[in-house]
Amino acid sequence: MTEESLKELLRDMSLKEKVGQMMQLDSSCFSNEGPVTGPAAELSVDPEDFNLAGSILGVVGAEAIEKLQKLCMEKQPHHIPVLFMADIINGYRTIFPIPLALGCSFEDEAARTVGDVMARESAAAGLHVTFAPMVDLVRDARWGRIMESTGEDPYLNSRMAAAMVRGIQGETESYEGHLGACAKHFAAYGAPAAGREYNTVELSERTLREDYLPAYQAAIEAGAAMMMTSFNTLDRIPATGNKWLMQDILRAEMGFEGVLISDWNAIGELITHGVAEGKKEAARQAAEAGVDMDMMSGCYMAKLCGLAEEGLIPEDIIDTAVWRILVLKNRMGLFENPFREAGKPAEQERVMTKENRDKAREVAAQTMVLLKNEENFLPLDREEDVVFIGPYMEEKNILGAWSFFGNPEEAVTLKEGILKKKPDAQFARGCEVLNPGQTVYGFRFNAESLCSEPEADEMIAGAVKLAKGKHKVVLALGESNLQTGEGGSRGDITIPDIQKKLFRAVCEVNENVAVILFAGRPLDIREINEKAKSILYAWMPGTEGGNAAADILFGDTVPQAKLAMSLPYCAAQAPVHYAQLRTGRHTRDGEDIKNRFLSKYQDIPNLPLYPFGYGMGYTDFAVGEVILSSGQLVSGEGIRASVTVENTGDREGTETIQLYITDECASCARPVRELKGYKRVLLMPGEKREVSFTITEDMLRFYNKDMEYQAEKGKFMVWIGTDSLTENGEKFELV
Ligand code: BGC
Ligand code: BGC
Repeated sequence: MTEESLKELLRDMSLKEKVGQMMQLDSSCFSNEGPVTGPAAELSVDPEDFNLAGSILGVVGAEAIEKLQKLCMEKQPHHIPVLFMADIINGYRTIFPIPLALGCSFEDEAARTVGDVMARESAAAGLHVTFAPMVDLVRDARWGRIMESTGEDPYLNSRMAAAMVRGIQGETESYEGHLGACAKHFAAYGAPAAGREYNTVELSERTLREDYLPAYQAAIEAGAAMMMTSFNTLDRIPATGNKWLMQDILRAEMGFEGVLISDWNAIGELITHGVAEGKKEAARQAAEAGVDMDMMSGCYMAKLCGLAEEGLIPEDIIDTAVWRILVLKNRMGLFENPFREAGKPAEQERVMTKENRDKAREVAAQTMVLLKNEENFLPLDREEDVVFIGPYMEEKNILGAWSFFGNPEEAVTLKEGILKKKPDAQFARGCEVLNPGQTVYGFRFNAESLCSEPEADEMIAGAVKLAKGKHKVVLALGESNLQTGEGGSRGDITIPDIQKKLFRAVCEVNENVAVILFAGRPLDIREINEKAKSILYAWMPGTEGGNAAADILFGDTVPQAKLAMSLPYCAAQAPVHYAQLRTGRHTRDGEDIKNRFLSKYQDIPNLPLYPFGYGMGYTDFAVGEVILSSGQLVSGEGIRASVTVENTGDREGTETIQLYITDECASCARPVRELKGYKRVLLMPGEKREVSFTITEDMLRFYNKDMEYQAEKGKFMVWIGTDSLTENGEKFELV
């Protein structure tokens, strides 16, 4: 439709019809015959008005969407097509590793591939927009939703966010064959106090700007069609009603021109936050903040017309919001073809193909982090006397808590992956994932262990029998899929007790143990780290997880991932991250026990068990000294920083060379160091290559004491190495 016709359409719409466009309802609001009265009553919306909905979430499948699209369009006075949205987080049917694992790939192309495949599959299934990527910076391993983020670092997150958006939206203006991306949750949803879900966020404006906003900015610059508000307060004002945040920051400063949608009932929650007395006031606050679409609170449909008619909000606000929504629909060509390319043939051709599965396998292997590998325990030899134990050997729920449309039955278990490499491999389950009788409540299904204590003991005894006398044991352990995700905050971030019991019992009879961990968060693995010879962190690896993990265990693929989030020593360290501010009494490791007057604990270290950026391969790398093209960086120019990297082992390997910068003295306290670049190099045994970066003034900018984004002249350190603790540094000066 031409812009002129679209404007005409807007002019011709009634106020109520316009407000309808601003309402998003979920699948429970419609049956085959039309609106359902129960949800309508709950939302205080006339069921007939459901027909005016501009968008529906949570319906998938070309047939279902086509039916509902027809039903709704028929009832709409101007037959405006509905936007169909859903949470496609790490895959539609072919499930990739969770986003936190993806962050560990440090590979932009992997993030683009995940976005691309999941968008192609879901576009074939009729969807228009996905509520992804979640680009919230995360630093607290207690929070369940860290699995949906790519980690703790603003620079890494920004690169991942941009790559995901590009992958999801494809190459064309109309997102042909792809989806619109809805980045979320604006803003700072990833910083709930104490890691407790939906809790208050307290951040200084400087921290918000410097650490949290960059990834949303990157998503905007990559062209994200939509943005979602967050549930939390910021400076005590809920984001969804926060005019400063949405108007001054998101729209004016960050230049976001797309559709802003509330999170689920977040407009209604302005009432429970205690900042709005009722739906009318909640609707007014959100509309004034500039929230274009109301996800499932009903406040807009119930109250916006009245507010406009009484002159309590200018009708302009409504027109602007509806215009943005119509522009998105038009951009995607929905007025010409409300079903786009969706349909049974497209689904059959594009969903869960061999090609997609192959990509999932490749990406999964790129995300598994090898933390420890004493005596080259891994890779395994196919002829070796090794046995395989643990509940995650046979577990199919390895898709991550947000893969609603993926089918665990289609997932390849680790056991299946191993059997392809070693057909005579012997297995024992050892125990269930959860403790006997334990249930974890989920959204669509629960996770539970029906095993009794005596049965559990028997299973452990069976595993011990198998482990005894064997050359090696590989144990697959982890937390349940449902112990992370939304509502998945935990205070104790260890594996379930029954698995600890299994681990201890096996270690008693065999000291040659490797552990492969399945988790949605960095767990406290102190005990495992002490006793196991090798640790591979497999996260929630998705549909091809078992194949990818087996590829690594047997050395057909070389591990290369790096931690995108510090792996804490224990929960009490949280939030722990490498880019901390220097204190007046700084100590890096906190291990000086005699001096109590330092910023440290008396009983645990300052450093995480494994730092951000850390991860091993099957070979060794030597990184040479940092060579600078000049010790002085002249404002407006750049200097070259390089190192030589050599593969000193006897296998090929990919190393991720990371560049960090420290600002030695500035008008504000600055992080001890910050990631400003990374490059991956593949080297054959004995091969040596130079890796270089250009340091520019841009990399040195921060929000100074007057809140200006500038670099300050003076001394800096550049560090180049293989993790965030590297000591390989050189000085330079900005003049
Ligand atoms: C989550 C969002 C999600 C939405 C729709 C909310 O509970 O916070 O991330 O997109 O539900 O499912
Ligand atoms: C403490 C102060 C104290 C001062 C003088 C400092 O280390 O923080 O509370 O008054 O020493 O003893």
